[in-house]
Amino acid sequence: MIYPIVKFGDPVLEKPAETVHEFDTPELHKLIEDMFESMYAAKGVGLAAPQIGISRRVAVIDTSVGGDGSQKLVLINPEIVRKEGKQTSEEGCLSVPGFREEVTRPKRVTVRAQNAKGETFEMTGEEVLARAFLHETDHLNGKLYLSHVSVLKRDLIRRKVRKMIKAGEWS
Ligand code: NI
Repeated sequence: MIYPIVKFGDPVLEKPAETVHEFDTPELHKLIEDMFESMYAAKGVGLAAPQIGISRRVAVIDTSVGGDGSQKLVLINPEIVRKEGKQTSEEGCLSVPGFREEVTRPKRVTVRAQNAKGETFEMTGEEVLARAFLHETDHLNGKLYLSHVSVLKRDLIRRKVRKMIKAGEWS
């Protein structure tokens, strides 16, 4: 099932999501399947459950943008355990459509997470993948990438979004 993507302004995006305690359930597998489907439909490389209105610590990533599926990753209850270096490039978010901003982030990142069966694993990613680990983990902590851009730019985006909401162009 393809869910509509929740947009910036909805409080579900700005509160920490709930830890997952039950694994390998039909419900969890269905959620993961729906998240991939919704992410591919929206042409994203990552999606966190709060972005479909479900406040649980589940994120999916596919940096091949729906290529062959070999890059499919599921992160449940993820935590960033190591960060190294620095990279700066444009970042966007399906919940903030139409905007992209330069964000400086660590270049090499290790995430510790659980899979759908509840097994804990660690994975290290660089560049785009490191950025995805950080961006999605932020989402599960109630943080948008906008919290990493300057106050000036953030306020500008906020004003533009407010105008679009008024004009009925943001839903
Ligand atoms: Ni995002």
